[in-house]
Amino acid sequence: MSSQSATEKKVTVRDFAAARERGDKLVVVSTYDTLFARLSDEGGVDAVLVGDSLGNVVAGYDSPIPVTLNQMIYHAGCVRRGLRRAMLIVDMPFLTYQVSVEDALRNCGRVVQETGAAAVKIEGASEPVLQAVRALAEVGVPVMGHLGLTPQHLLAFGGFRVQGREAAAAQRLLDDARRLQDAGAFSLVLELMPSELATRITDALSIPTIGIGAGPGCSGQVLVLHDLLGLNDGFKPRFLKRYAELGGEARSAIRAFGDEVRAGQYPASEHEF
Ligand code: KIV
Repeated sequence: MSSQSATEKKVTVRDFAAARERGDKLVVVSTYDTLFARLSDEGGVDAVLVGDSLGNVVAGYDSPIPVTLNQMIYHAGCVRRGLRRAMLIVDMPFLTYQVSVEDALRNCGRVVQETGAAAVKIEGASEPVLQAVRALAEVGVPVMGHLGLTPQHLLAFGGFRVQGREAAAAQRLLDDARRLQDAGAFSLVLELMPSELATRITDALSIPTIGIGAGPGCSGQVLVLHDLLGLNDGFKPRFLKRYAELGGEARSAIRAFGDEVRAGQYPASEHEF
């Protein structure tokens, strides 16, 4: 989808569907605060996802599992205040949507009411998840699904591994994608799977797929903003392309600040009142 000026209307789920129909690629970043949300919006992304990857990126955990609903709501509010055009999508954290439909409705309802999110994202396609997607669609909460390497299943997967390499696993993912679409999901994230499988899934669906480590055949792509900016320079998965090296620049700037303070060069006369 081409970028528009900041005065144009907010991107909605209808724009996602229209982009899919036209074959325009959708651009999504995952980020967690107002400043980065504003930069993403000004950079012309179609949607900002407040991912539970904030557990790793912001909070320093090894996985998103410790992230709580209140933490997601806090960060989603921060991000919303930075957005003018891009759609806000919020990840539902571990065990906030799988326990019961009632729980899913209450928790996703809190997210859209308290943050102004236009959609929520949930992982997997188990029967409780499909029931939640149906119920949310009925009350008017758009849901983005997430298949492949679903980080909330990290303990069961035994680490970050490409999913769907074997024929049976690939077929299961294809079937799950169809089930999520039928349940009412407006879009699907496909994470860490062979490109050929992601293309097959995309071709089998009418809703847009957003890939991460799933090749070029998806309807759009998502990356964590900190990763694409090179802020997290120890993180180098094969799928990641860094469009800047801000981690190195940040370190040099901090070192220069320290050097100048220690040498009595900062503040200089132009910084004084
Ligand atoms: O948590 C996250 O940021 C995500 C995206 C990378 C898809 O789930």
